[in-house]
Formats: sequence, structure tokens, C-alpha cells
Amino acid sequence: MTATVTFTGNAPANADSSVVEWVEDIAQLTQPDRIVWCDGSDEERQRMLDEAVEAGTLIKLNPEKRPNSYLARSNPSDVARVESRTFICSEHEDDAGPTNNWAAPAEMRETLNGLFEGAMRGRTMYVVPFSMGPVGSPLARLGVQVTDSPYVVLSTGTMTRMGAGALAQIGPDTEWVPAVHSIGAPLLPGEEDVVWPCNETKYIVHYPESREIWSYGSAYGGNAILAKKAFALRIASKIGEREGWLAAHMLLLKATNPEGRSFHVAAGFPSACGKTNFAMLQPSIPGWTVETIGDDIAWLAPGPDGSLRAINPEAGFFGVAPGTGHSTNPTAIATLERDTVFTNVALTDDGDVWWEGLTDEAPSHLIDWLGRDWTPDSESPAAHPNSRFTVSAHLCPSIADTWDDPAGVPIDAIIFGGRRATNVPLVAQARDWEHGVYMGATLASERTAAAEGVLGELRRDPFAMLPFSGTHMADHWQHWLNVGERLNDTGNAPLVFQVNWFRRGEDGRFLWPGFSENSRALAWITERIEGRTDAVESPFGLVPVDGAIDYVAAGVSSEDWEALFAIDPEALNAEADDTDVFLARMGTKVPDAVKRQHEEFRSRL
Ligand code: PGA
Ligand code: MN
Repeated sequence: MTATVTFTGNAPANADSSVVEWVEDIAQLTQPDRIVWCDGSDEERQRMLDEAVEAGTLIKLNPEKRPNSYLARSNPSDVARVESRTFICSEHEDDAGPTNNWAAPAEMRETLNGLFEGAMRGRTMYVVPFSMGPVGSPLARLGVQVTDSPYVVLSTGTMTRMGAGALAQIGPDTEWVPAVHSIGAPLLPGEEDVVWPCNETKYIVHYPESREIWSYGSAYGGNAILAKKAFALRIASKIGEREGWLAAHMLLLKATNPEGRSFHVAAGFPSACGKTNFAMLQPSIPGWTVETIGDDIAWLAPGPDGSLRAINPEAGFFGVAPGTGHSTNPTAIATLERDTVFTNVALTDDGDVWWEGLTDEAPSHLIDWLGRDWTPDSESPAAHPNSRFTVSAHLCPSIADTWDDPAGVPIDAIIFGGRRATNVPLVAQARDWEHGVYMGATLASERTAAAEGVLGELRRDPFAMLPFSGTHMADHWQHWLNVGERLNDTGNAPLVFQVNWFRRGEDGRFLWPGFSENSRALAWITERIEGRTDAVESPFGLVPVDGAIDYVAAGVSSEDWEALFAIDPEALNAEADDTDVFLARMGTKVPDAVKRQHEEFRSRL
């Protein structure tokens, strides 16, 4: 530390010296022109929005169509998470495991020091304190991100409890997660008009032991809003492992049956598999309601009463726009009516937004996400397949009034799911917690546009955490088994289920209508919790008895209903073989319980 503080003279008076000194260190390294400490106020947000419009980073939408809403267009090379550039730099490679990119921390620090040196020259460095979870909740955790991207500040302002309230929580003994973000080396002369600067070189780096995050070269959501995937999942999975709680890539919802009994459900599906749609479900069954608590991340901790309590650590939704429409997710459409930042969707001629699936018919003319003229005859989609909306959770009409309860909500059921054209039934209940951990551990899904890679390819995505675990995946499974044992001891372990909305018939058609009809599977799950309905054994677990789910009311034929639960021994044996290969790849840390469950699965075939 230099004796005279050159950069942080404008730090708020109550900022803890640990934060001030860290900010000073990062400023010395990255050499920004100035530092702005964000207070999270409405005035600050409006000022930054106006500045971004002035700079061309944001386009203000027509206030009559979409009040106080904006469109951002990214650099075409910066549209999704880059898993190949995401690193878990634990001291020992074995603590990152075979599913993560690992690099030795000392080497990585040297590489990053080189890249970050002078990286913020000519720009403002924003200091962005935030709380994951309600400020002051025993389940909440704190962080501070520095960034040179106003878009990232605005996004963090929506996605977290950002600003002075969070900073005030940090005292001399408070643990907080430092997160350093830069869009990369300063612009070359002549590049000043680039509206979404980023760098060819990208690094998203986590040091799980020291709980630090460093991200370079990208301004895209999951790479740059470090509170979200980097902190609330990767670093938090490590913190949770030490402290006895679970960081999960799960939505949270509250379902209430016609008798008025409520159930809380956490559901883990991979990215772009419908977590937001499920969290905002409008049940097709009369008398049922579903309320939203979160759409992406849940922190689950055994509570004082022995139940599993859950909070949504986030404060907003960063959802996939395409496929979100009046018929698929009317609640999301209502949420997005105002105060929303859209990224990489299309612009209509009257200054509103459009994306594939918003309406049945596309407008006759649009400006596409690349800023080009677009008509329905154009070859490429008008919105990028991973285009997004960023909006505050409290604007969601279905938000539960308990969504920000500092004590969290008690979880009754945990659901795993993915996109599976074959093999996996519509719904099945795990025999017990251990079987549920096996369901989560062996989860697979077809690849979506949320990350780089080949679309449609089947990949294992254990616990829907493949891109988001800060630990060895097998350690993550053991941790789930350990937490389950504590819950079992008190008789409070939630029931575990697996669902699949995406099974297809031989003709390639979806067998299940999905969306609001998914309430039928959800209702069955709650009936299992209440012990109101029987189930029958299948290789996957316990499945509904005849008549337990009214598929006719969902418009499904009895042939399709049977196909939704059909067992193809040959295909399942091939899948079990694939699981052998997968478990072998996970190495010697695979818990015996998971191996035992796999043998049992085989023996049931
Ligand atoms: P998701 O998260 O891919 O799980 O939707 C968004 C992101 O952070 O990129
Ligand atoms: Mn997600």
C-alpha cells in the first residue's frame, strides 16, 4: 500500500478499511481515470441510464410502449457464457475436479496481473457493493465488485441488493467476496464509438479458498455480473460446503392447492430449460396458484427448526427472451412491461422490442440484434437465441410476499429436470434422499444457446451445476448426502423428484404440452408430499398410478401418456453404460452411495 491514498479519497465515510484498501489496490493495478462508489439510489441509476444512452450503449425504448426501458446490443462475439474460459483456481487441482478448467493460482495471478495492468485507463471504475439475499438476513452474504462497465453496474443494480445498504453491512470482521471485472484493455484510437467494448481474450476466474473472483474481457451477463453465477453459485458452493448449506442452480416457487395448503419447491434445470417459465407458472388446474420466489439460484440451509430453509439470493431476473410469449409465460410478459433492460433482442419500428416467440406472427420489419434491417424473409433470427431481459423481481405480478423473507421459506420438495427427448419419464419420485442425489448427479440435458457449444447435443449436467460448481463435482454430491443426513435425522428432508417436459414421440413431436399443464405434475408432487396418492415402482423411481394425473384435461392422448413413461430397456441399458463412463470420469471421489444407487438402477432394468 502506498502511504497516500490517490484513488479512494471519495470513498463513503462508513466504508470499511478492508474495502477501501482493496479498491485502492485494484485501482493502482488497473489505473482508471476516476472512481465512483455506487450507492444504489434511483438518482444514480437514472444518471447512469442517461449516460449510457448518451454514449450509445443503450437505446431508450418508446416510453409509451415500454416505459423506462432500454435495449443493449452486445458485441456479436460476446453473447453467452464462455465455459472454456471459466476457471476454478483451487490450490489443489483435485479440488476443482474433472468438470472444471483448473489452473494453478500463482500462475493465474501472474497472467491476470499482466492483463489487468492499466486495463481501466480512460474509463471510470465503479465500486459496486451488494448483498446476496435480503440485507441483514442470516442467510445473506456480501460482496463488492469493481467494474469499468456501466451496463454491468446497471445489471448488478437490478440483480442484487446493491449500494449503500450492503456496504454498511461490512464491518472489520465481516467476510465479503471481492470481485474484479474489466471489459479489457483500453480502446485503441478510433475505437471510441464501439458501443459494447470487450476483449478477444477472456478469463472468468475463481479462487475458491480466498473467495475471490476476477473476470476479464466480457460484458455478458454470466461472465460479468459476478454476483450471480460466479459468486452465488461457484464461490457459494465452496462456502456452503464449509458452512453446511447448499448453493443450488434452482428456481423457487410456492404452490397453493384449492384447500389453501402451500408447498415450497426448489427445482434445478440447466440454463434455458424453462426455470423462469416454471417459476412463473399459471396453473391450468382450477383452484391452484403458483407464486414466484426465484428463477435461477437458491441457497438452501438447514434451519433452526430442522427444516431446509431457502432464499433467493438474487433480486431480479436475467431471463432468456426468445420463447417467452403471452401463451408460454404471460406472467413474464407482464413483468417486462416497464423498467426493463433488454439485451440483443430486436427493435420494432415504433421503438419497442420483439423476439421469436413473443407473438405468433413476426412484425413485417424490424432492426435485428445486430442492428440490421430484418423482415420475416430474413435467414437469421431477429433476436439472438440467448437474448435476455433484466428486470426487478418485485415487478413480477406472481412474486410471493415471502420472497424476501430473511428467514427463507421451508422447502417441501426438490425437483431435477432437463431437456430429454428420450428415456426420462414426465415425473418420478426418488425413493429417498440418496436416490434423489443420484438423480441429480446423473442429470443430463440437451445443449441450449445459453453457453457456447453444439446445440442439441446431450451432455451430463449434474445438479444442473456443470458450469457453476466451484468444487469437485463428486465433493458436491457428498456434500448433498451429508446435508441430507442432517435433515433425515430430524425427519425434515424434502422429497426429491425428477421431471422431463421435453420427451418426444417417434415423429419428433413433444408428447407433453408443457407450460401451464406442468401444474399437473406439480400437483401430483404435492399430493405425494401429503401422502394423498399412490405411486408405482419404475426403474426411475415412483411414478403416478393410473388416473393420478388428468392427462386428458391436458389434451394428451392415452398413447402419448403411455409413451411419456415408456421404458425402452435397450436405450436405458445404453444410458446406464454411459453413466458408468461418466462416473468413472468423475474419479475416485464418487460417493459409495451414488455408486450403490447406480447398481440398483441397473438391477431394476
Ligand atoms: P443462465 O444464466 O445461463 O443460467 O440463464 C445467465 C447467465 O448468467 O449467463
Ligand atoms: Mn441459470
